[in-house]
Amino acid sequence: MAVAEWLAVPNLWLLAKSLIIGLIPLYFVTIIFNALYNVFLHPLRKYPGPVLRAAFQLPDLVSLLRGTAFKDTKALHDRYGSVVRLAPNTLSYTSSQAWKDIYGLKPDRSELDKHPAYYKRASRNLLVVDQADHTRMRKLIAHAFSDTALLEQSPILTKYFDLLVARLKQQIDGPEKGRVNIVGWFNFTTFDIIGDMTLGEPFGALEQGDYTPWMRNVFSAIAFLGVIRFAETYLIVGLLFLLLQKFMPSFAAKRAAHLEYTQKKIDARLARETDRSDFVTQILRHNDDRGMSYQELLGTCRVFLVAGSETTATLLSGAIFYLLQNSSCMERLKLEVRGAFTNAEDITMRSVTSSGKLPYMEAVLQESFRCYPPVPSTLPRITGSEGSVIEGKYVPPGISVGVHQWSAYRSSTNFASPDTFDPDRWLPDVPAKYQGDDKAVLQPFTLGPRQCIGKGLAYFELRSILARMMWHFEIELDAESRDWMDDPKEFALWHKPPLFVKLKHRAD
Ligand code: HEM
Repeated sequence: MAVAEWLAVPNLWLLAKSLIIGLIPLYFVTIIFNALYNVFLHPLRKYPGPVLRAAFQLPDLVSLLRGTAFKDTKALHDRYGSVVRLAPNTLSYTSSQAWKDIYGLKPDRSELDKHPAYYKRASRNLLVVDQADHTRMRKLIAHAFSDTALLEQSPILTKYFDLLVARLKQQIDGPEKGRVNIVGWFNFTTFDIIGDMTLGEPFGALEQGDYTPWMRNVFSAIAFLGVIRFAETYLIVGLLFLLLQKFMPSFAAKRAAHLEYTQKKIDARLARETDRSDFVTQILRHNDDRGMSYQELLGTCRVFLVAGSETTATLLSGAIFYLLQNSSCMERLKLEVRGAFTNAEDITMRSVTSSGKLPYMEAVLQESFRCYPPVPSTLPRITGSEGSVIEGKYVPPGISVGVHQWSAYRSSTNFASPDTFDPDRWLPDVPAKYQGDDKAVLQPFTLGPRQCIGKGLAYFELRSILARMMWHFEIELDAESRDWMDDPKEFALWHKPPLFVKLKHRAD
């Protein structure tokens, strides 16, 4: 029976109407009872935090949607201390002990599961699979990220570092006279590198000096994560979201086209026989029957493309901004780099990674990670059936737990003058003022078995690019970007507006 006919039957229509009218108050009564339970009876009731947060999920979600979760969460930590109940089933932490308790391996070699609402198991990739699969896959993938592999890969990477320098020099001699959006150029470089290492070809962003449609899609998808979380938590929002997709087919089609394009590129790379030193060659070299399936390889290559590009570009953008705001730090770094090499060709993988050669640059990188962490929010884990002990206190089963990076790094409990950019705190000879800093809190790559596998590669890129920026250019902040960090927004990752700087050829 069609809906219209069905509604035409008076008794059925009456019944449907009464059901709807009856269900609405029931829905709200359930919400209120649930909230009362959350506040007065829930096992987390004694954890500190505002009552509204304990009662409802909504404030946390609104914060996520507005892009202000990083500062809202920090304000709560400033008020309540190193653990806060952010939502009915969510605890947020800021201490180095919490890092170990939540992300480290336990004495029985088990780990806390990644929170299934954030890490969708539907797709099989290194980031989301369970512990057993992760151990198997990580062992295999580790070959592509070893020091030996990095050394083999360095000619591919160096090509892009040099291309970045060449393209920036062209901008100085071009119509804009060196005025560039440096966030863009860092993104072009790190995306091209990761494209080449994963797909066997760059995206071509450095050559064209612009974002490609694929890159733009990635940024929109990241910005959309908050909406998806909202839709999954609230039935009504979820239904609206489904309707939106139904009535705006272009919306879903765009996403499908993006996924299909990436898959085609990955398939083409997997099918190509070559011994060039990229990720795929190194993984396939060790893959056997006990290795990774096609779906796992495909999913993991997708992870490489996003995890390995935006994060590195963010840190570089933050480092340059803070250096521009702190001219004495910039001068000191420039002096160190220009004094450490005799010519540009000396800036190699071995020289930038050799320990003790560029101590101030290491300190600048650490301080930039602290002040502008590429992953500012929480990577949530879930407590298992036995519960967990975190910061010496029992947490019941099924609770979302994690360290909130922004709050941890800007906490005056962990760092003296937390809002001041001062690389000195990371030098071997720590000034007295910073001797009480808890440096183990800084874990931008997390720790434990799930920590970033690309950390070595990321450091190689960061050192190589920052050293080249210092070696080749004089950099000034453009007046338009003076307030670049005044009102940041975070949607899982930072929303980075353009950062305009003026580049000049090196003066001496
Ligand atoms: C500054 C740069 C980077 C930062 C701050 C960073 C940060 C992180 C963090 C915090 C995680 C843990 C994610 C989680 O637990 O959910 C992670 C994982 C991962 N990162 Fe990075 N990352 C960076 C660069 C890279 C690069 C260059 C690659 C190269 C492809 C990469 C590939 C990965 C992969 C594959 C994982 C998953 C590891 C696993 O689950 O075993 N990352 N990264």
